[in-house]
Amino acid sequence: LRRLAGVTSLLEPGTTTDRAVRLRAEHRARWGADPALVGRAPGRVNLIGEHTDYNGGLVLPVALPHSTLVSLSPRDDGRVRVASLQAEGVFEAQLDDVGPGTVDGWAAYAAGVLWALDEQGVTVPGVDLLVDSTVPLGAGLSSSAALECAVAVAVTALVGGDLSPAGRRRLAAACVRAESEVAGAPTGGMDQAVSLLAEPGAALLLDFDTADGSVGDLRHVELGLERAGLALLVTDTRVSHALVDGGYGDRRAECGRAAEALGVDSLRRADLAGVEALPDPLLRRRARHVVGEVQRVSGVVEAVTAGDWGTVGRAFVASHASMRDDFEISCAELDLAVATAVEAGALGARMTGGGFGGSSVALVPADRVEAVVAAVQRAFADAGHRAPLHLMATPSAAAD
Ligand code: ADP
Ligand code: GAL
Repeated sequence: LRRLAGVTSLLEPGTTTDRAVRLRAEHRARWGADPALVGRAPGRVNLIGEHTDYNGGLVLPVALPHSTLVSLSPRDDGRVRVASLQAEGVFEAQLDDVGPGTVDGWAAYAAGVLWALDEQGVTVPGVDLLVDSTVPLGAGLSSSAALECAVAVAVTALVGGDLSPAGRRRLAAACVRAESEVAGAPTGGMDQAVSLLAEPGAALLLDFDTADGSVGDLRHVELGLERAGLALLVTDTRVSHALVDGGYGDRRAECGRAAEALGVDSLRRADLAGVEALPDPLLRRRARHVVGEVQRVSGVVEAVTAGDWGTVGRAFVASHASMRDDFEISCAELDLAVATAVEAGALGARMTGGGFGGSSVALVPADRVEAVVAAVQRAFADAGHRAPLHLMATPSAAAD
């Protein structure tokens, strides 16, 4: 893997301490005060369990080594200012005026968290925030959740709040509210939960079978990738999934209609026989994906535990086919990245995240990573697609 250092399409996560030193200097230059602290939260890649979180199902994401940093200095006048090294413009407002419908653009993800924490009864002071990220934006790797969670841990540390596992679950809920109610993106709860609750070396099995759709049971699933001689390779197709904003909401609505037609609260409660008997072919396909995908998550957890990586790889491939054919959220670039990775030696590969663009993840023998990267680059060039980017998804730690 060390030889990959020379691969120009590889996105490096950066060293947190070095990045924090630079961000503190930028913060001082921009806001005229030293930051009191720097919060950090990782992006994520989901191994399997796609579009299952908002259906009361199971997901199995890992936290990336790539993360978002947020430097914070408190203010005593109740004002909020937010800037990012990755985006234009400065957001500035009175904290009391921040809430649903009041913040446009990217700053809604950051300011929205201040509002959601206040809604939870946290006394949030005015703050100056500066953001810096090595999570690619809009690549299906949850840069938005990383931004929310970095703000959440920074504010919580400032006010001496609860960063225990229970406290982190509350922060995840606040971040979900920020994303859905202030930023206006109707997502499930997977991304925020893994960013706040992951453990290094492990994937996080999350069960969303709860009355209010929040995280229920969770379990860290030790992966032992290095011991198994395997690596997780992410390919960012650079097809921005934000281009088709409506697709995610459409799928959510279709799943809701399928559940209604089946007479269940959520598709978690549906069974395959019932699904196959649905008269509407579109709802049948959507529900078939969700029900099959939840089963595949359980299968992968069992296979990982047994060290049966061949089965894990095959589940990735089946999951991708289901998203391509039944859930219809893939695209030509994702299909190409997945097929090429498998041809070049990956045990399995699949698109990951919301879909309609974004990234794929491949389970690759460590000594085949370079060959897979080269093959995917070549295939994209031959097809006339923009050159993709890659990153090594070493399962990493939660926000701090
Ligand atoms: P993903 O979360 O998969 O990267 P989304 O479209 O859900 O994709 O979120 C990406 C959006 O989040 C960006 O377009 C931007 O509005 C916001 N965002 C994320 N990270 C940053 C950052 N470091 N600086 C500014 N905005 C960011
Ligand atoms: C993401 C969303 C998650 C999850 C995922 C699909 O974009 O934020 O909550 O639904 O798509 O599995």
